[in-house]
Amino acid sequence: MQPLNIEFNEQHKAKYLQLAQALRSAIIKGDIAVGTKLSSAREMAKIYQLNRHTIMNALQLLVAEGWIESHERSGYKVIQTLPIQSSADIKQVPTVTPKPYKFAKELAVPTPAMNLNNFKYNFAGGLPDLNCFPYREFKRSVSYVFNHLDTSQFHYGNVAGELNLKSQIGSYLHKARNLKTTDLLICNGSQEALFLISKVFINNGDYVATETLGYPPARKAFSACGAQLIDIKQDEYGLCVEDLKAQLMSNKIKLLYLTPLHQYPTTVTLSPTRRMQIYQLCYQYDVLIIEDDYDHEFHYRCQPLQPMAADDPAGIVIYLSTFSKIMFSAARIGYICASAQVIEQLSAWKQLMNHKNDVVMQLAVANFMQEGAFERHLKRMTKLYKERYEQMSASLIKLQSNGLPIEFKKPDGGMAMWVNLNKPVHGLKNALQKKGVYIQAEPEFYYKEAARSLIPKQQSYIRLGFAGQSTQSIQAGLELIAKHVY
Ligand SMILES: Cc1ncc(COP(=O)(O)O)c(C=O)c1O
Repeated sequence: MQPLNIEFNEQHKAKYLQLAQALRSAIIKGDIAVGTKLSSAREMAKIYQLNRHTIMNALQLLVAEGWIESHERSGYKVIQTLPIQSSADIKQVPTVTPKPYKFAKELAVPTPAMNLNNFKYNFAGGLPDLNCFPYREFKRSVSYVFNHLDTSQFHYGNVAGELNLKSQIGSYLHKARNLKTTDLLICNGSQEALFLISKVFINNGDYVATETLGYPPARKAFSACGAQLIDIKQDEYGLCVEDLKAQLMSNKIKLLYLTPLHQYPTTVTLSPTRRMQIYQLCYQYDVLIIEDDYDHEFHYRCQPLQPMAADDPAGIVIYLSTFSKIMFSAARIGYICASAQVIEQLSAWKQLMNHKNDVVMQLAVANFMQEGAFERHLKRMTKLYKERYEQMSASLIKLQSNGLPIEFKKPDGGMAMWVNLNKPVHGLKNALQKKGVYIQAEPEFYYKEAARSLIPKQQSYIRLGFAGQSTQSIQAGLELIAKHVY
């Protein structure tokens, strides 16, 4: 056998592995033909300047993997039955052309995440202030998990979530949102909740209704699972009940997705009257309501309206919420409340997807809640965000009083405001990014395949988050936006 040209230059890899790799690829390429007898270990040690022990380790590895076999007295030979042509027999090595993949459904590829910390003024819509999270207190809860280890919790099982966390969330929902839960499923954020609900309820071609301006990741999950989306008109008070009725009469709608407390992205709170009308219509037309209550706690004008799910005698509301706003989104803790039957089906899909959520994180959050740290943090954040909410409103009013044609309605709560600049906002997001300002603009909230008639020609709104930055930054950032736009 001809010696191979091996460089052994991978510093962090053992020499025997580098030798095995070189021999393996020479066999695959046909440079060492099948059936070839390898040089003896003693010869190889001399050729490659390695000790015999290293050579033997490499050879034994290749035997174990099935590339070579050891013959008593005659040494090592490349396995004869490997379906490889010797490179000497091949006049020209054929090029292998990769064939196109046949994806069941080709989705848009995620764009690389933008580092929002790089923006001097960050008006991202639902961003909590991550500098204010009590990491030290949370670290104690993580330590608690390992100091009180119950290894039975570290197995598979408990698909729907750790009992401690479910029980803490259940009590919290009862106390803070007047929601009596019969059953809960913990999932990897609301996004997984939306995907699981889609898997459980949507057949190809089923109709799912959403508002004209909506939360794109929800729509994408519905549509990826086969739904046809129907846009329902909305006005300054939220979803238009008359239009919903008209759509229900002409299409067999299966699900209606709503963010009733703070409509995403317009922040409008849906009145009790509309909620009741919508509920009655959905019951009449056999539609399930998906209620996404993503930032419930942050309501400043009064106590937040209780969720629609809190008054759901017919069991038609599937309620979901998240810890992404009240803690941080990387925790990936979300949950679904629904009837036991629905939770069972959701859990079955959850098990197929990923068995369960991260147990350490679930137990740490449960302890964080049990110790009262969670509610203390919430109280501090609600106070802080209210100050920022007032600051944003005051700054916008100041710009108005300077004669700028800005219009906005102060929302009852949430983490963002929906502001009419009365100027076209196409291209504004990109232009402001170049100046270190992050905003969201109206065009990104329409579903691309929506009925054209529902998308206004003149789009002039932007969504400005106020929770994630200081009052000084809010003021300075708004002045910069105004200077750029007018
Ligand atoms: C309407 C809405 N729902 C849900 C979420 C939270 O998603 P997740 O729990 O997957 O982080 C967000 C976050 O931006 C949101 O705006």
